[in-house]
Amino acid sequence: MARILVTAATGRVGSQLTRRLVDAGHDVLAVTSRPDRAGRIKEAGAAPVVADLQKPESLQQTLDGTDAVFLATPDHPKQDVMERALIAQFSAAGNPHVVKLSAQSAGLDPPVSFGAYHRRSEQALETSGLPYTILRPTFFQQSLLLFSGDVARKRKITAPVGNGRIAMVNVEDVAAAAAAVMANEDHFGRTYTLTGPSAHSFGDVVAQLSDRLGHTVGYSSPPAFAARIVLPFVTGMPRWQSSLVVDLLSALKAGAQETVSDDVEHLTGHPPRSIEAFLAEHLDTFRS
Ligand SMILES: NC(=O)c1ccc[n+]([C@@H]2O[C@H](COP(=O)([O-])OP(=O)(O)OC[C@H]3O[C@@H](n4cnc5c(N)ncnc54)[C@H](OP(=O)(O)O)[C@@H]3O)[C@@H](O)[C@H]2O)c1
Repeated sequence: MARILVTAATGRVGSQLTRRLVDAGHDVLAVTSRPDRAGRIKEAGAAPVVADLQKPESLQQTLDGTDAVFLATPDHPKQDVMERALIAQFSAAGNPHVVKLSAQSAGLDPPVSFGAYHRRSEQALETSGLPYTILRPTFFQQSLLLFSGDVARKRKITAPVGNGRIAMVNVEDVAAAAAAVMANEDHFGRTYTLTGPSAHSFGDVVAQLSDRLGHTVGYSSPPAFAARIVLPFVTGMPRWQSSLVVDLLSALKAGAQETVSDDVEHLTGHPPRSIEAFLAEHLDTFRS
């Protein structure tokens, strides 16, 4: 069994991954910046590490004797700078296997939106001399929950994605793929693209929601320039972030994530979870 450090361990992917690694019997160190979350981590069977990912030296002692690190960081205007500093810290601490949570958009040519940051981090990892594995998920199915309030209140989704079809991946499959590769030398030096089993447009998503909820859910796709102006006001996102979101959604509109990969099944041994199953499971959230 391995000693594994999980960063962003309270996040969507990290929390699922921590649970899976603990269940598999690994010794898991789970990083959070918030001391009030340490109890929750202990209950999950992992050892909490309260540290700030923007201060890599805060992980120095914890890294001693660590076999593998799951590197995930939040979207940030200096995400690549933060991750490069962390990779340098991992290198200084020894030779852990680093599994980086990247994004499918890092593999586009040229990389797009958040993917441009991820690609710079990937390059730092690829040239670090550390054993590494890169995971590039598409748009998370769970990100659709960001629209659940609008579906419940306005019976409508507004997003500048046009008829672009997206092979959205379920976070549980991303975590399962990460658990399968951690500290496993069969996956050293490999990059995997994690997708769902089929691609769907937002039009398909609202059609399925309409069927399941028993009333019509509308969909409108404003031009990107309008979304760029409105998004910071309606979501409260800072402008750097809303601008990257619009860039990403514009790429999705053009079909950047419509190709299905078999990497989830190859890594986990089961087919990826479908969008139909995801919507069925979360129907109550879209209802209320
Ligand atoms: N959303 C998508 O559709 C999508 C698709 C592909 C790739 N991605 C990538 O996935 C990554 C995000 O993963 P996620 O969705 O699992 O995370 P998340 O749910 O957004 O959670 C963010 C995590 O970062 C931690 N964090 C924030 N600031 C920190 C700091 N200064 N020090 C230590 N920890 C800190 C938070 O922990 P605490 O608050 O407990 O400290 C939390 O665990 C991003 O890099 C994104 O580009 C997202």
